[in-house]
Amino acid sequence: MRHWLSMGDYDPAELAALVRDACALKSGRSSAQDAIGDRILTMVFFNPSLRTRTSFESAMLRFGGHAICLNVGGDAWKLEHRDGVVMDGDFAEHVREASPVLSRYGDLLAVRTFARLHDAREDAQDAVIRSFAQYATVPLINMESAVEHPCQGLADWMTVQEKLGDPRGKRFVLSWAPHVKPLPMAVPHSAILAAAGAGMHVTIAHPPGYDLNAGVLDRVSAWCADAGTQVDVTTEQRAVCRDADVLYVKSWGATQHYNDAPAQTESFARHSDWTVGTDHLGRNALLMHCLPVRRNVVITDAALDDTRCVVVDQAENRLWTQAAIIQRLLNG
Ligand code: CP
Repeated sequence: MRHWLSMGDYDPAELAALVRDACALKSGRSSAQDAIGDRILTMVFFNPSLRTRTSFESAMLRFGGHAICLNVGGDAWKLEHRDGVVMDGDFAEHVREASPVLSRYGDLLAVRTFARLHDAREDAQDAVIRSFAQYATVPLINMESAVEHPCQGLADWMTVQEKLGDPRGKRFVLSWAPHVKPLPMAVPHSAILAAAGAGMHVTIAHPPGYDLNAGVLDRVSAWCADAGTQVDVTTEQRAVCRDADVLYVKSWGATQHYNDAPAQTESFARHSDWTVGTDHLGRNALLMHCLPVRRNVVITDAALDDTRCVVVDQAENRLWTQAAIIQRLLNG
C-alpha cells in the first residue's frame, strides 16, 4: 500500500505522470469515476483550510465519491501522537486508535497538521503525519504537514506546465516575503521540489537566517543534478526576480526566531522591502503563491491583480491534481 506523504517518495517520472493524469481529468479526456465512485475519503484537520478541504470534497463529489471532514479539537477529540505518554491532559484519544478506526470507515485517509515552529528538529521529524501513516490501514494523504505540502506542489507543477509548456530548463525563483507572523516551510519545500522534479533551474532568495530544511535542499539538488539544471541560494532578491520565468512568493519563519515573537516581528519589519510588487516581475513571468495571501504585506495589490498572476489557476489545479492522486492511490 502506497501513501502520498512526500514528493520525495515518488520519482520525478511518476510525478510527471500524475500531472499528465490531472491535465486529462481537467480537460475531460478521462474520468476518475471508476476509481472514486462510491469511495469515501476521511479528512482530519488539525489546522484551518479553505482550498484544501473544499478541493478534496469537490474531487470526491465530482467523481461519485464522498468526503467526511473532522476538525481536531473542534468536532473531533484532541489527538495525542507521542508514544508512552500519560494522557492525563487535554488529549482524549491517541492516533494509535484514531488512525486504524478511521481507516475502517473509509477508503482513504487524509491529514493536515502544521509545524509547531518551536523546534526545527522536532518539525523535521513530521511526527504527527508519520504516526497516522504507521497505524493507517488505507492509503494516507498529506494535506500539508510540518515539512511538506505535496498536494500544493503537484498543483504548482501542473500550473507551470499549463502556462509555460514544457518547464524543463526554465527558471524558477522562490522568493521569501515578510508577514505578520511566522509561517511553516512546507509550501516552499514542496514548491522547490516540484520545480526541481519538473526539470527547472531553481533559485531560492531569502534574507540571512531563513534557511530551508537541509534534507529537502539535498533532494532538490539531487533532482536538479539528474535533470542537468542548477540550484542557487541567494540573499539578493532583486538581482534574481526579474530573470525568473516563474516567481513563486512565500513567507516563512526563521528557525533562529522560533519562540521569540518580538525578534521575528522585528526581522519581518527590517525586511519589509522584500514585499513583492510588479517591479519584481519580468515581462512574461508568472507570479505564483499558494494562498491565502496577505495583500500589501506579502505581495502588492498591483502584482496580485496583474495578468501575470496565476494564483487562482493554481488553486483550481489543486482539485485536478488531487483527483489524480486519489485515483492513483485507489488503483493501487
Ligand atoms: N494553499 C492551501 O493549502 O490553502 P488552504 O490553507 O486554504 O487549504
